[in-house]
Amino acid sequence: MATINKNFTKLPGSYLFSTISKKVSEFEKANPNASIIRLGIGDVTKPLAPTVIDALHSAVDEMAHEDTFKGYAPDLGYTFLREKIAVSDYKDRGCDISADEIFVSDGAKCDCSNIQEIFGLDNTIGVCDPVYPVYVDSNVMAGRTGLYNSDSMRFDNVIYMPCNADNGFVPELPDKAPDLIYLCFPNNPTGAVITKDALQKWVDYAIKNNSVILYDSAYEAFISEENVPHSIYECEGARKCAIEFRSFSKTAGFTGLRLGYTVVPYDLVLDGASLHDLWARRHGTKYNGAPYIVQKAGEAVYSKQGRAEINEAISYYMANAKIILEGLEKAGYEVYGGVNAPYIWLKTPDNMTSWEFFDYLLEKANVVGTPGVGFGPEGEHYYRLTAFGNRENTIEAIDRIVAM
Ligand SMILES: Cc1ncc(COP(=O)(O)O)c(C=O)c1O
Repeated sequence: MATINKNFTKLPGSYLFSTISKKVSEFEKANPNASIIRLGIGDVTKPLAPTVIDALHSAVDEMAHEDTFKGYAPDLGYTFLREKIAVSDYKDRGCDISADEIFVSDGAKCDCSNIQEIFGLDNTIGVCDPVYPVYVDSNVMAGRTGLYNSDSMRFDNVIYMPCNADNGFVPELPDKAPDLIYLCFPNNPTGAVITKDALQKWVDYAIKNNSVILYDSAYEAFISEENVPHSIYECEGARKCAIEFRSFSKTAGFTGLRLGYTVVPYDLVLDGASLHDLWARRHGTKYNGAPYIVQKAGEAVYSKQGRAEINEAISYYMANAKIILEGLEKAGYEVYGGVNAPYIWLKTPDNMTSWEFFDYLLEKANVVGTPGVGFGPEGEHYYRLTAFGNRENTIEAIDRIVAM
């Protein structure tokens, strides 16, 4: 008799964004004339850059001719893209990463949820609280956690590392070292960043404890300040203890096109086995590569013109972030993030819970954001707004919130 993977039943029923959309559609039904502004889900709104569109068109044309047609992509991704990544994202920043250590994929979500497959089920995991839920849920599905405790809103056998205003939303090194440490900077949902010195401490800690850091830098392109590392490989020794995930989604508007990559350095060795080899084996067995046309679009992002165009889009979003940040600050809100990340993390007023503030904002301003508690119990009394809306809506949303 077939049975199910019972680990899936440990996951609490309703997913954050489905609860939000249910609440919003109920509100819309009751208030058909309300003009709702959504600054909730972190999806981009600007179209793809013209240089990327040109690259897509010409790659599509290549697919139409026998002599230029492409079938399956190479396992790790096309060399033309991996070499650009190695030079622009790593060598130019002083990081020693070669093209052969880069695995191209269809996005960071798949990679950061699938990477746990190459580690033993007896590994403990450490995650920030609040956290991008994918890191935890993928380990729940694999059976690496205990049950969900609805009182603590946490899974058993997971090391949660609180991130709050007191520690600047950067976790402290846990007394008991997790085997696998998930870090994400610039952070979703808090918009916080880590300094290079602080990240170096994590690298030293991981090396000392034989832990592996799974470093998600999906938002590195939004960093505007000095002394904020774009990659964990800027830290000494990181090649021996860290895997890094990157995405073209927010950097270049590829949320619908799908492209990302993972770096697994050759120096990462556990139990005498190369993690690079294990991930290559997993990748080759379960994945058949990002489409040629999408990898060509990715390559265009690294051209001079492509770079200028995507920087323009990033500046546009970060100008939205500034409008949100300054508007809320002026209105007396306690706000974080929004300087090196497209997320603004605000403290709810009058000690409202995150969901109370969600309802209040929807009701009074017809604005939708994301309740902080949806990312973990430390997110209670916080609320996330994103800078990915268009300018007009962003200004209007802040005007309405300020006028509440
Ligand atoms: C922290 C973080 N990592 C990864 C992803 C997923 O990126 P992708 O679209 O490449 O799957 C997101 C998307 O919101 C994210 O916020």
